[in-house]
Amino acid sequence: MTNPASAAARDTTTPEAVDLEQAPPVEPLAVRVERQIKEGRLTLPVMPAVALDVQRLIEADAGIPAVATAIGRDPSIAAAVIKYANSAMYAGLRDVTDIQQAVMRLGLQPVQQAVTALSARSLFERAAPAHAELYKRIWRHSLTTALASRRLASRVRIAPDTAFLAGLLHDLGKVVVLQSVAGLQGRAPAGFAIDDATVLEFVEALHCSVGDMLFETWKIPSDLRDVLRRHHDPSLSGVGDMLVAVVQMADLLAAKVGASLHPDPELSLVDCPAAALLRLDDVKLASLLVDLEDDLEATHDAF
Ligand SMILES: [Fe+2]
Ligand SMILES: [Fe+2]
Repeated sequence: MTNPASAAARDTTTPEAVDLEQAPPVEPLAVRVERQIKEGRLTLPVMPAVALDVQRLIEADAGIPAVATAIGRDPSIAAAVIKYANSAMYAGLRDVTDIQQAVMRLGLQPVQQAVTALSARSLFERAAPAHAELYKRIWRHSLTTALASRRLASRVRIAPDTAFLAGLLHDLGKVVVLQSVAGLQGRAPAGFAIDDATVLEFVEALHCSVGDMLFETWKIPSDLRDVLRRHHDPSLSGVGDMLVAVVQMADLLAAKVGASLHPDPELSLVDCPAAALLRLDDVKLASLLVDLEDDLEATHDAF
């Protein structure tokens, strides 16, 4: 992980910042972003209302029609749920054409998972034009990590839906950091830019703590918050860390298949701390990679 202070230092090396002895130092944008985050003055995105409603209705056992009605209030999420029900992973003999049928085919827990996933995706759609490509790559990485997490979950008695969601959301802090950078940059004086390499350093250095803050605000259960905070922490201990280990390994599997901001086809997965905890050897890892490629193929169009 990179130290944001070094990113901040580099931001001062612009042609304008030549005479440090005479001119009063202008606070670099990078320092401002970091301070804003540390002081908790970040504007955190709110969880979409439909996701909250669906969560509440499923918890209250309100039944399929009520859940379908709630989903129907957001046409883009409704359309995506129907599309998901018709994807290769769930498709039956005939295509479903309305939300209630889609909910019946998927089941309530997968629907909740899909709605949360789609809500998280809506955060990705608010990208500033300069960051659009980065958002796309983070989304693809998140989805790939989610699919890999689901595969890994079955090996360690973790609910597959929980693992999927944890994988999907693990890097959500990156989106919040990017939004914060874009917001500050929009208000900065002309020519006071922050370069792409510095933005990336920030994203990497701050996304875990920012993701944790976001989930605290969204009142997300602590096992998921733990994943956001610790998915790059190499000191995994035992049973309590299994979900973190699953996502950590899934994150690396995604890098191995190229779905990452830092793709690495040569990565040796078996040497990673999570591999020991999950008891994965080279043979099991190779078969997981094949399964992951199949999942990617099957869900290609779903999200
Ligand atoms: Fe991460
Ligand atoms: Fe990641």
